[in-house]
Amino acid sequence: MGNEIKTIGVLTSGGDAPGMNAAIRAVVRQAISNGKKVKGIKRGYAGLLAEEIIDMEAKDVSDTIQRGGTILQTARCPEFKELKYQIKAAEICRKHGIDGIVIIGGDGSFRGAQALAAQGINTIGIPGTIDLDIVCTDYTIGFDTAVNTAMEAIDRIRDTSTSHERCSIIEVMGRSAGYIALWCAIANGAEKVLLPEKYDYDEQKIVDNIINNRKMGKKHYIIINAEGIGHSASLARRIEAATGMETRATILGHMQRGGRPTCKDRVFASTMGAYAVDILCEGKSKRIVSYREGQFVDDDIDEALAMEKTISEYQYKIARNLAI
Ligand code: ADP
Ligand code: F6P
Repeated sequence: MGNEIKTIGVLTSGGDAPGMNAAIRAVVRQAISNGKKVKGIKRGYAGLLAEEIIDMEAKDVSDTIQRGGTILQTARCPEFKELKYQIKAAEICRKHGIDGIVIIGGDGSFRGAQALAAQGINTIGIPGTIDLDIVCTDYTIGFDTAVNTAMEAIDRIRDTSTSHERCSIIEVMGRSAGYIALWCAIANGAEKVLLPEKYDYDEQKIVDNIINNRKMGKKHYIIINAEGIGHSASLARRIEAATGMETRATILGHMQRGGRPTCKDRVFASTMGAYAVDILCEGKSKRIVSYREGQFVDDDIDEALAMEKTISEYQYKIARNLAI
């Protein structure tokens, strides 16, 4: 099977994530080391459909491992959910001699990979999302950098919040995944965390808790609010009115998605990129590269996408216990 793959394509899709460049670099250089040609596909599935396909050499990924973003650009391409575009994309792959594609992205991008595999194209997915919301893997490219960026920003807000004896609501990314919020809640010692997986919060209880904390002399009250809950500004106004404690809302936004990848993101993304090429050359297809129980492994995309998303109940519980 191994010698059937001559040319490997690589694309990034969905939201970008720090470390994607390290993964692209590893795909390009591991493929070349294995005697394969590499084609870079720009702007995700949109670029594939538009045939924005370039030859890539080892030198094309020089000076990229330390950079955030993705040198291949990324895009969201809603029409790729339609069969006719999936068929067209597979034809374009065949026309350009692409025998297998490495797709770096989140679960939406993996549905695209699943669709391409159904059209006879060998596909390997690498989890690239700051959201850490791919169930089969304990690691996704970009989460480590993003959560550290958010944590540092929250530390800064906490300083000024304490000086002014304010309540601060800090909104972090995660429309449908609360991992950044939960990890920051623990890492920053937040008094309260609101997660999209748990619409269980009681605003009156938060108000009572703030008033009690003030009575006990606590000088700030930090609420980490995930993007999926949102409405941080209006929540701040209501809390200030109900508690008398000055309250400010800060939305960290896309600053969490940019910046130099951490060492972990560079090393894990590099390993996953090389691993993806190796399994493609072994003849595997429709697989996701995962990191589980301390090992790099690969999983069937259908099975991986069918797994139910959860968030750690234990960590959610301790985030509350440790904030008393
Ligand atoms: P992420 O990959 O980060 O989860 P999205 O959910 O936005 O990001 O998906 C990225 C792209 O993957 C979409 O713009 C679309 O091109 C493709 N995609 C998403 N869902 C599907 C699907 N059900 N079938 C085929 N392609 C899909
Ligand atoms: O890539 C994941 C993510 O950053 C989510 O955390 C967030 O909800 C979403 O993308 C934001 O997407 P956009 O950049 O399109 O606003």
